[in-house]
Amino acid sequence: MGGNGAREDWAIVALAEIAAAPTVAALEALRVQYLGKQGRVTGELRALSGLPALERRARGAVLNEYKTDIEHALSRQREVLAQAEQTQRLEQERLDLTLPGVSPAWGTLHPITRVRRRLADVMLRLGFTLRTAPEMETEWYNFEALNMPADHPAREMHDTFYLEAPYVLRTHTSPFQIRAMRDAGGELPLRVATLGFTYRRDDDATHTPQFMQMEGLVLDRGIGLPDLKGVVLAVVRDVFGPTERIRLRPSFFPFTEPSAEVDMSCPLCLGTGCRVCHTGWIEILGSGLVHPRVLEAGGYDPGEVSGFAFGWGVERVAMLLYGLDELRPLYQNDVRFLQAFDAWDSL
Ligand code: DAH
Repeated sequence: MGGNGAREDWAIVALAEIAAAPTVAALEALRVQYLGKQGRVTGELRALSGLPALERRARGAVLNEYKTDIEHALSRQREVLAQAEQTQRLEQERLDLTLPGVSPAWGTLHPITRVRRRLADVMLRLGFTLRTAPEMETEWYNFEALNMPADHPAREMHDTFYLEAPYVLRTHTSPFQIRAMRDAGGELPLRVATLGFTYRRDDDATHTPQFMQMEGLVLDRGIGLPDLKGVVLAVVRDVFGPTERIRLRPSFFPFTEPSAEVDMSCPLCLGTGCRVCHTGWIEILGSGLVHPRVLEAGGYDPGEVSGFAFGWGVERVAMLLYGLDELRPLYQNDVRFLQAFDAWDSL
C-alpha cells in the first residue's frame, strides 16, 4: 500500500487485471502496459522530475511501491498460469490404468496342421516311423523307380511341374517308398510313413497346385491284403470315428499289384447315402501290394519279401473331417475361417 493512504485507481485496476490475466500472452501485454517504456509506471516515474523535491520523494516512494506490487503480481500470476498449464497437460495425458488392455490376437493351428498332426500321431501309435523326402525329386524316383517308365500312360495323369532335368516337383509322396527302402538296406520289417507337400498343375474348387499327401509303407515276409486292410481300417477309425467301415475296390496303380482304392462309409450321412457321397461310400485312398519291380528298385528281393503301401490327400481328409465342400479356403488365409477350427476341435 502507498504510504499516503489508499491506492490510486489505476494501480488497483492494474493489480486486478494482472490477477485475472487468462494467458501468458495477456500477462505480457499487461507488463508492457504498466512497466514497459511507454508504460504507465514508467511515465509516472518520468514525471517525478517536474515535482518539488519534498513531494518528489514521497511520490517516488509511492510509485516504487506500486512498481514492486505490480512486479510481484506479475510473477505470481505467471506462476499461477504455469501451474494451470501443467495441470491441464497432465489432465490430457492421464492414463486410465483400469481400462482393459489390448490383448494380442492369439493364433490358432491351421486345419491342415491339425489333420497332419493327427495322421502323424496315429501312424506313430501303429508302430510306424516317420520320415521326410525331397519335394524336388528326380524323374527316376518320382516315376521310373515306381514302375512308370517315360512312355507309361499313367504319367499323363500326373500334370507334372518340370524343373531343370532331371528334376521335377514330386507329383506324389510315393517316391519316399524307394528312398525308405534304400536307406533301410534290406532290413525287415519296415514300417515307415511320410507326410508332405506334393505338386500338380491342377487348380479348381477341390484341387490346388500344392497339396499334401500322407503315405505309408510296410514290408516283411508274408505281408498280404489283410494286413493292408487292417492298418487302413485302424487309421480311418482313429481319424473319423470307431464305427467307420471300409471296402477295397480293385483298381490300378503302376507301383502296386494288385491295387485297390479304399472307400470308407460316408462320415456325413453315416453310410446311408447323401448329396456328397450318393452311394454311402466315399473314396479316400489308393493302395495295394508293392509291385515286384518297385521292391527291386528299393533293393529288396520280391521272391522273399512282400509289402503294402497306401497314400492319400491330407486336404481331402480335412474336407471330410470338417465337412468342407471347397479346398481353396484352406489356403486363402482368412483368419475368421481358419480360427473356426479351434472351437470345432474342442467340441
Ligand atoms: N501315389 C498315388 C497318387 O498320388 C497314391 C497311391 C496309390 C499311393 C497307391 C500308394 C499306393 O502308396 O499304393 O495318386
